[in-house]
Parts: sequence; C-alpha cells; structure tokens
Amino acid sequence: MSGTLAHWAELERTLLSPVWGRIFPLIVERGEGAYLFDVEGRRYLDFTSGIGVTNTGHAHPRVVQAVQEQAAKLLHGQVNIARHTPLLRLAERLRDITPPGLDQFFFSNSGAEAVEASIKLARHATGRTNIIAFQGSFHGRTVGTMSLTSSKTVYRVGYQPLMAGVFFAPFPYAYRYGWDEATAVDFALKELKFILKTQTAPEETAAILVEPVLGEGGYVPAPRAFLEGLREIADHYGILLIADEVQTGFGRTGTWFAVEHSDVVPDILVMAKGIASGLPLSGIAARPELMAKWKVGTHGGTYGGNVVAAAAAIATVDVIKEEDLLANARERGAQLMEALRALQRDHPVIGDVRGVGLMVASEFTHPDGTPATEVAKATVKAAFERGLLLLTCGPWDNTIRWIPPLVVTQEQMAEALRIFSEALAVGEATAR
Ligand SMILES: Cc1ncc(COP(=O)(O)O)c(C=O)c1O
Repeated sequence: MSGTLAHWAELERTLLSPVWGRIFPLIVERGEGAYLFDVEGRRYLDFTSGIGVTNTGHAHPRVVQAVQEQAAKLLHGQVNIARHTPLLRLAERLRDITPPGLDQFFFSNSGAEAVEASIKLARHATGRTNIIAFQGSFHGRTVGTMSLTSSKTVYRVGYQPLMAGVFFAPFPYAYRYGWDEATAVDFALKELKFILKTQTAPEETAAILVEPVLGEGGYVPAPRAFLEGLREIADHYGILLIADEVQTGFGRTGTWFAVEHSDVVPDILVMAKGIASGLPLSGIAARPELMAKWKVGTHGGTYGGNVVAAAAAIATVDVIKEEDLLANARERGAQLMEALRALQRDHPVIGDVRGVGLMVASEFTHPDGTPATEVAKATVKAAFERGLLLLTCGPWDNTIRWIPPLVVTQEQMAEALRIFSEALAVGEATAR
C-alpha cells in the first residue's frame, strides 16, 4: 500500500507527535499557485495559504528559481561570522516598503522569535519591563509569546507560570460587544488608560503590542481611531508601540503592511509568514536610533536571516510588486466581501462579515447571539470534502477566516464561493 493515503496516514499516526492539531486528514505532495495536491492527486483550492504564508501562491516559479540558484551557491552564512549579500539586498527591499523611518532590520526564523526580539529591543531601549497586549491577541507559542497571547486558553493551559509583566487590555471587537465601532474604540482606549493607572505604571511599561487586524483572535480589524489612540497614549508616556504584522503583512490587507490603512507608524514592526513565501524567515524593523539602544551581542541566533530564505524573500517582494498583488488583494477582497454579504442575507447564521483586503472573516452566530461553532465546523468539513480548504479562528472557532493567496484569480474566488455556499447549506443541515 506504499504511496496510498492510508499508508502515509498510518505513518503520520504512529510517528508524528499528537500535539500537532490536525484540521484535515490531508497529506500533500505538491502545491501550485492557489492549489495543493494530495498524495493521491486530489486537488484542493487552498484558502488557508498555510496560515497566511504563501501569499505569492504555492511554489511561485520566481521564488523557486531564486531558492534553487541560491542553494547552489551558499546554504548557510552565519550572520555573526559574515553578512551575505542576499541579506543586505533584502534589507534594501524592505527599507523601500516598510513605513517611513523604520529603516533598520533584525532577522530571525519564525513569527514568535521576531515578537520575542521586539520585546527584548523594547526592554533594552526603554529600560522598562512591562508589556501591554490585547484580549484576543496571538503572538506565538514560545514561553514569552505565549504569555502575550490570549486568543484561547488552549495556548496557555498547563504551561503556567508564564512570563511576568504582561497586562491585557480590551480590543475593540465591536461585534462581540454588540456596540458600534466608535463605542468599542472609546471603551478600549479608556480601559487601556485605566490599566496604566491601576496595574502597570507608565514608567514600568516598555511597550504596547498590537495586531493591526486581530488574527487568531477572530479576524477583527483595529479601527483607525484605535491605532491613532494607541499612538497618542504611547507617545504621551514614552511607551513603544509594536505592531505585530506577522499575519497582516506582505500585502495581505491590500497594502504592504496593515498599519498603512491608518497614518500610524509603529516604533517596531514585526514581520514573518508571507515574507519568504514559505521559507522560515522573520524580522523586525525599527528606526536606527532605537536599534542603536540594543546592546551588541545581547540578542542573536544561529540561523536568523538564512541566506536561502533571504533569497526567497527578495523574490517574494519582487513578485508582489511586479504582479501588482496589492491591487489584486484589494479587488479579490472586495469580490469576497460582497459575495459573503449577499450570502449573509439568506443565511442569518452568518452574523458578521468583516475584513480588509484578503483578510476576511465570516462569524457564525445563533439567533440568541451564542457562537454557532458547530455550523462553522460542519461548513469547513463539507468544504474540504468538496476540495476547498478553509480555516476557523476566534475563541469559539465560530469564525471562518478567508485567507487565500494574493495570486487568487476572480474565477478561483468565484469557485471557492460556490463551494462555500454549498458547504454552508450542508453545515446548517448537519448542525440542525
Ligand atoms: C499575529 C501573529 N504573531 C505571531 C505569530 C507566531 O508566528 P510563528 O507561528 O511563525 O511563530 C502568529 C502565527 O500565527 C501570528 O498570527
């Protein structure tokens, strides 16, 4: 039975740790653009993008070529020993696309590592210890970033005690509160000020860490007024503002970074996922004056800024520019939102449709306001059986998050929506 799905599934069951949650019984062999192909040749429209990573699609030929060429020249050029040219060329590319002034970079391998780096820089630069994060945040699974995460208890349970000095403020998740956006923003900013008065003194607070669109926590865009309010509070108290753009970056929301939808420039911007189209790479960007406060040798790592990953990242930036994927993210995002809103009229279980660019949520809710998790899950399962990969998010997993690659075509989007509407009918019937 070598080569069959059953064969691989048996190896998976016996050899891989069960700690990895497995959303689909899917074992893949290759990917191409918006599609994944399993070991038996079945094709899936991948609207998960490997959780927001393959923004240029699977195995984009330009990225693959860059990786192959680089791999033949140098696989590892450790950064303390020598700086390699792809790293320097990548930094140049990033200087052009990151918000103004954020012109120096530190590189690592994963999103969590980059968030850790941002926290370490903030502590050194301010001489303060504490961090304010937000309810619903997800920043990673290391001990430090897990301590900054509150999107679900599953990420923290059994791992206490966590890193000290972390405080959570409310995120303006208007739909959950049942408020309009302005009321939610006003409440969240007031509570943040209250936390600075009652729990973590400004002179002990190094940073406010925010996702410009809450990711794992439910795909909730931070209103512009909220980000502006954070910037004002941070400036007032000399606290640094860190934007975690691990999931929102690299064109996902129709701009290079989601903070660009406001005029807010963070002090530190964290990036990963889409940066290298699938190779492990992450980084932080900050003003040179801030980076100068990070004492030499107090942070680093063996692989950070790997040369092959850097080559993939350069190609990724070039592809996003040359194929105008930012515009495609906006256009396909508009197509998606419009279609979901139309579906919402006939399916009241879709309680809310929200999003920006190709980071879109459809939140499933029962008439009494409770989360319709079982409908969302049954819909995802039915979509899988029809060849469409979708993910959920949010504390109750009742939000289907739409995160297709930025190369998705109008026809592929229409096909995904056709499958979704069929799956939704199955989901509603199953859960009845
Ligand atoms: C906003 C955000 N920050 C950090 C992370 C952690 O990234 P990684 O899984 O690469 O460590 C994630 C992962 O989903 C994320 O969405």
